[in-house]
Amino acid sequence: MASRVRVGIAGTGSYVPERVVPNAEFESFLDTSDEWIVQRTGIRERRWVAEGENTSDLCVHAGKRALEAAGISAADLDLVIVGTLTPDYPLPSTACLVQDRIGATKAGAFDVQAACTGFLTAMNTAEAFIAAGRARRALVIGAEALSRFVDMSERGSCILFGDAAGAAVLMPHEDCGQGEVLRTTLGADGSGFEFIHISGGGSVHPATHDTVEAKQHYIRLKGRDVFRFAVKHMSQLIEEMLEGYDPDELGLIVPHQVNRRIIDAALDRVGMTDEKVMVNIQHYGNTSAATVPVALDEAVVQGRIEKGKLVVLVAFGAGLTWGASLIRW
Ligand SMILES: CC(C)(COP(=O)(O)OP(=O)(O)OC[C@H]1O[C@@H](n2cnc3c(N)ncnc32)[C@H](O)[C@@H]1OP(=O)(O)O)[C@@H](O)C(=O)NCCC(=O)NCCS
Repeated sequence: MASRVRVGIAGTGSYVPERVVPNAEFESFLDTSDEWIVQRTGIRERRWVAEGENTSDLCVHAGKRALEAAGISAADLDLVIVGTLTPDYPLPSTACLVQDRIGATKAGAFDVQAACTGFLTAMNTAEAFIAAGRARRALVIGAEALSRFVDMSERGSCILFGDAAGAAVLMPHEDCGQGEVLRTTLGADGSGFEFIHISGGGSVHPATHDTVEAKQHYIRLKGRDVFRFAVKHMSQLIEEMLEGYDPDELGLIVPHQVNRRIIDAALDRVGMTDEKVMVNIQHYGNTSAATVPVALDEAVVQGRIEKGKLVVLVAFGAGLTWGASLIRW
């Protein structure tokens, strides 16, 4: 059997829509306040797509930036994988729209649906293809237009979500010399499928006037249950990724930006402070599959990741799903 190809992250990119939605905007139509939202979530503002702007548009911007950072052209790609729960259409995949628009003429393209774990699932899939010698260049993207799927009359959920896209180019480590993926893990527990759920529009409740009337096309969540699950899994995944490594080797943890309090509680459990943690939830809210790649790209741009140090990517979400990766930058 051929030996495993070591895989590296050759470049990252991200994009957020122009429209900034501060917490105060919700005060005009909901019983909520900037103070409540900041205290309970850490979110101060989020970005929402403009009319006519869709998930694939965000993907194209972020994807092109990642290709530029990696120094390759779209025509060199063997794979385009998009993690999203808010595709442009139920059919076909958003990845195919992106493949066409960026000119990835040689690439296979598909979406993965693992909600907030979408980027890490896409990245793990691409890593496995490259490691097995079945592909050499892959563009992986996490992207969402969540503002199109939230019930603006439900204060417990609509304030949480934002729109964004983040991307990374993966290739053999020998070709890029950076960002080696050392460890990955994915997990799921479908018994918790109703914790975060869009019940209408699938084969159980195909879209009808009634499902729309009952607002079944919007995201519903059991915030408190998710909170407990999230703290437990975030802390366990960080420990699992770093097991056997000297803590001094850690450069940065890039966690799913779900709620500032969840991140803080998870860090507390593993006995860490936030100096080695990337947090940007104050600007973007929870952008599901996009949080990890956007935060990773911002960390790269801000020079927060020292070459040779370890980076932990960690996410969890609807499914329930979870995933993590350990990278040597
Ligand atoms: C949603 C979340 C912010 C709520 O925070 P919380 O501290 O758990 O708050 P609770 O749900 O216990 O609600 C406390 C009170 O605030 C109220 N409340 C909820 N949203 C509010 C808002 N936007 N403004 C003001 N009050 C609000 C609730 O109605 C509740 O009132 P009650 O005590 O009179 O019933 C938090 O649970 C969370 O972040 N959960 C995970 C989010 C998630 O699922 N993300 C998607 C998956 S990754």
